[in-house]
Amino acid sequence: MLATVNPFRPSAGANPPELLGREEILDEFEESLISGPGSPSRLLRITGSRGAGKTVLLNALGNRARIHNWQVLDETATPGFINQIIFALEEASQHKTVKSIDLPSLGVDGIGSIELGSIEFDRSTLPLTIRRTLTECLERIAKHHPERGLLITLDETQGADPQALRALATAVQHLIREDRNIAIAFAGLPGMSSFLLHDEVTTFLRRATPVNLTDIPLDLVKSSFTSILNAHDYTIDQNALDAATAATYGYPFMIQLVGYNIWRRAKDNHIDLAAALSGIESARIRLGGTVHEPAVEDLSDVDRTYLLAMAQDDGPSRTGDVAKRMGRDLQYAGRYRERLIQAGIIYPVSYGYVDFTIPYLREWLQQHAATLVMQRSSQA
Ligand SMILES: Nc1ncnc2c1ncn2[C@@H]1O[C@H](COP(=O)(O)OP(=O)(O)OP(=O)(O)O)[C@@H](O)[C@H]1O
Ligand SMILES: [Mg+2]
Repeated sequence: MLATVNPFRPSAGANPPELLGREEILDEFEESLISGPGSPSRLLRITGSRGAGKTVLLNALGNRARIHNWQVLDETATPGFINQIIFALEEASQHKTVKSIDLPSLGVDGIGSIELGSIEFDRSTLPLTIRRTLTECLERIAKHHPERGLLITLDETQGADPQALRALATAVQHLIREDRNIAIAFAGLPGMSSFLLHDEVTTFLRRATPVNLTDIPLDLVKSSFTSILNAHDYTIDQNALDAATAATYGYPFMIQLVGYNIWRRAKDNHIDLAAALSGIESARIRLGGTVHEPAVEDLSDVDRTYLLAMAQDDGPSRTGDVAKRMGRDLQYAGRYRERLIQAGIIYPVSYGYVDFTIPYLREWLQQHAATLVMQRSSQA
């Protein structure tokens, strides 16, 4: 018998077999497309930690927009993203369809302009250029189909060039005031919101509907495991299902990792407790390599010291204890606490307490503490 293709998708940006817990926001968004300009869900700012499901939510929003024949432009806030948006819109006006374009990452040269084929965008006129291009695109769409519009999704917004983001925000703000059919969804790590909200030019984004991606309720995870497995003629013992569900902590990436690995351990399409436990173990190891390690690598030495100090506790840490373990005062430690919250690694549980956002990070840090400390001293 040919092995059935594993339905789970434990990979960044890969659409899961069932998108759990996002129905409400997707429905609200879809309604906003119909209700007309000014509907709050046409302007979304989506935040969540690594692996919380930001990119696949943007994918799903795009699909809902396409159902209504809206055009969709997906961009990631890499250097030069604003030029890619302009370029894609101009392309679209020639070819009549907007699709996401894949160009090599473009940098800004010393003169302050960016060349892209024959098009050159001057940084100082960028706000006008983007506004003009968007207006043209929306007018072209509205000419034949006044009910249709354009959705722009911007991923990894926390890394966006502030000047480019301001240009885009200003343009969108004007277009909304002009009652145009535009929708925009920004996604990024939690720190993105504080940048958007504290920057004078992008304050209008304060009105963007916030969508904070938290954990998926475990009952949803459990029923989804059951329905996906059953749909593929797989069966699972109750205690195996309970263990698999609990092991996900409702964290979207782990849902896919656990699903994928228990599927692989099935014998004759059946998953018993032993198979589930061995799949869970593989999932945990994979989570370490694909989420914990890159997340910790991105941090500074002091950030890491803060995390290692937290990992000495078995549950939420008192910020005072963390500072003491670091040999620093509360104010100094507090700066790093804030940075780690913005990076989506930790969150404030209650006054004076913090905990890890990503499941199993504590255990991973405990296991790797010696190597992490060694790396630090060898760099010093
Ligand atoms: N609502 C969901 N239900 C089930 N699985 C999900 C859900 N959202 C995301 N996933 C799965 O979680 C994994 C991570 O999703 P995604 O890449 O969208 O996260 P992200 O927040 O964009 O992460 P990063 O910050 O690293 O880019 C993928 O394997 C995806 O299939
Ligand atoms: Mg992503």
